[in-house]
Amino acid sequence: MTDKIDFRQVVHALSDALDLVGVDELQHGKRVAFMAVECGRAMGLAGDDLDRLYHAALLHDCGVSSTTVHRYLVSELDWSGADEHCQRGHDLLLEHELFADLAPLIHYHHTHWEQLTDMDLPDQTALINNCIYLVDRVDALVAQQGIEELLFGKDDIRATIAKYRGSFFAPQLVDIFMEVSANEFFWLTLQPRHLGLYLSEMALDGKEHPIDQQCFLRIARMFATIVDAKSPFTVEHSHGVSRLAKQLGVLLELPEAHCDALEVAGLLHDLGKLRVPDEILEKPGPLNDRERATMKHHSFESYQILRRIDGFESIAEMAALHHETLCGDGYPFHRAGAGLSREARIIAVADIFQALVQNRPYRASMSPEKTMAILQEMADSNQLDQGIVATVRENLSACWQAATGETTRDDR
Ligand SMILES: [Fe+2]
Ligand SMILES: [Fe+2]
Ligand SMILES: [Fe+2]
Repeated sequence: MTDKIDFRQVVHALSDALDLVGVDELQHGKRVAFMAVECGRAMGLAGDDLDRLYHAALLHDCGVSSTTVHRYLVSELDWSGADEHCQRGHDLLLEHELFADLAPLIHYHHTHWEQLTDMDLPDQTALINNCIYLVDRVDALVAQQGIEELLFGKDDIRATIAKYRGSFFAPQLVDIFMEVSANEFFWLTLQPRHLGLYLSEMALDGKEHPIDQQCFLRIARMFATIVDAKSPFTVEHSHGVSRLAKQLGVLLELPEAHCDALEVAGLLHDLGKLRVPDEILEKPGPLNDRERATMKHHSFESYQILRRIDGFESIAEMAALHHETLCGDGYPFHRAGAGLSREARIIAVADIFQALVQNRPYRASMSPEKTMAILQEMADSNQLDQGIVATVRENLSACWQAATGETTRDDR
């Protein structure tokens, strides 16, 4: 990990992760960001104000980890359960000093303008929330029309938005939207191959903003919380893997920088799980072949997201390899033996240990002894590293505490 990390790259990588929750409706956050920026420019925003709108729009759905919730949000124009994710996203962003000024901009991004005007918000904050709401609803309509059909379907979308002028949306915002969406450019840019180019130009335009490792670590914790919030069965999983991986690094006397990298890789290894549909993650029984195949996407997705950040090559690799095995029957690369670094082997052990000591929909949490027996079996069959598994055994109580976050050993 390098000393300085570019904040803009981090926000983009994080928006890639959030967009996974759409499963097949990828790039929702990016389309919303593009449309918000186009409206923002027409509203006269520029410089830092426009950057803030752009970043808030990219991250506006950070309160949604569940694919079921996401589905409701894009399939219904006005869903009564929408406020919860706005509050959760607001609270998450508020926790980190680099995102705190974005939190008020997404707090009410599903609140009707009629209600917003009764609230005591600064004018610009109210307008930006409503702008994100408006373009978010446009994107729900885009999903219904089909992204390739927009030049044909755009008039219906514009007519639907116009119907809510003054009720859901601020009159002046609807007027601005009508103006910026009158041309073909607006609708064509929403297509994936054009959107990527627009956003990379947007990112290059922004100010360079280096952040240090400690700052990034706190961002990684925030994202681990989003991943772990996906299901009650994965609460604390990424945090537990991170604590245990770092602890194993220390016990194995790896250099401090490697232990820090293990901590970050542990937090982010399952970013790609945001794309796994809730019903697979929460299935109360063994997965069938199709479901298992879907599950196998996730470590590669984590890899693709993390390697976009300069200086993150080794962390991306540790995350990518957490389901590989020494005998080469893991996924996604079938990397074996010497192809797996010590750090990758540590993350693999920490991941399995943490998962075994957690309740899962298809089984109860396991005792430390049972967990150890399974790890040993996997080491004996050349899946996990013998030396790392031995270290876990020798420090079982401490590993248990690191993985579960519990201060006393739980002998269920
Ligand atoms: Fe959204
Ligand atoms: Fe995983
Ligand atoms: Fe995991």
